[in-house]
Amino acid sequence: MKKYIVIGNPINHSLSPKLHNHWLKQNNIDASYDKIKLEEDEIEEIIQDIKKQKVAGCNITVPYKKKVIPFLDSLSLEAEKTQSVNTIVFENGSLVGHNTDIAGFAKAIENLQFNIKGKKVFILGAGGVVPSIIFTLNKMGVSDITISNRTRQKAENFKKEFENLKILDWGDIPVFDLIINATSLGLKNEEIGLDFNNVGRNKLFYDVIYNPSETNFLKKAKKLGNYAENGKLMFVYQALEAFKLWHGIEPKVDKETIRVLEND
Ligand code: ATR
Repeated sequence: MKKYIVIGNPINHSLSPKLHNHWLKQNNIDASYDKIKLEEDEIEEIIQDIKKQKVAGCNITVPYKKKVIPFLDSLSLEAEKTQSVNTIVFENGSLVGHNTDIAGFAKAIENLQFNIKGKKVFILGAGGVVPSIIFTLNKMGVSDITISNRTRQKAENFKKEFENLKILDWGDIPVFDLIINATSLGLKNEEIGLDFNNVGRNKLFYDVIYNPSETNFLKKAKKLGNYAENGKLMFVYQALEAFKLWHGIEPKVDKETIRVLEND
C-alpha cells in the first residue's frame, strides 16, 4: 500500500489526513495518508524516504515550506517564484517541489464571488503562506497590497520578490477592501490586538486558518458588520491540487467533503 504524509510542527491541527483518506477511499486507491510531527533535523531523512519510495508523496506545512527546498531536485515555476513548497512529487527518479497553495487560494477566492480586481488588500503576517497569497493576488489583478507584520523586517524581505508591496508598522491599518489574516494567532485562539473599529463596514475579512472555524479575528469582523471567511476552501483546494498531482484524478468537492472536515 502506498503511503502519503504531511509533515510540519505543530501538526496536530492538520485535517489533511481526513481529507486525503476520504478521497483515496472514494476513488478506490490503495493508499494511506498520515501526519508526522517533525523536527527540522529530520527533514532530510524523510525526504530520502520519498526517493527510496518508502513514502510515495509528501505535503509540507508550517514551518517547513521553505526549509525542504535544499533537499529537492527541482521546483515548479510557482514554487520557485514563492520559494515555498507544500507538495513533493517523485517523478522520473527526481524529487519535484510544487506549490498548490497558489491554486488553492485562487479557487477559494473565486468561489466567494468577491470581485477582487482593482481591490485594495491588507495582509497581516509574513509567514510561509504569504508569498503564495501575494503571488495569487497580483495574478488576479488587485490594485494594491499592503502588508504588516509584528517583525517588520520579515515583511520588508518580500519586497525583493514582489516590488509593488507597501509595508506598514504593526498596529497601523490602511484603507482596504479585503484583509487577510495570515498570522498563526487563530490556531491558539489568541487575540490579534488590532483596532478595527474605524475600518468601515462590508469589508471582507479572510483568515487562512480553518481550525478553529471561527477565529477571534473573524468573530470581531462579523460583530463590526463585515463579511468573514475562513481558510477551509483554500485548504480543500490546495489538497485537491496535490491529489491531482499524485494520482492524476480530480477528487470531488461537495457537501460530503465539507462534512468530513467538520466531523471532528
Ligand atoms: P513562520 O513564520 O515560521 O513561517 P507562520 O505560522 O507561517 O510561521 O507565521 C506566523 C506568523 O504569525 C508570523 O507572521 C508571525 O509574526 P512574526 O514574524 O513577528 O513572528 C505572526 N505571529 C505569531 N504570533 C503573533 C502575535 N502574538 N502577534 C502578532 N503576530 C504574530
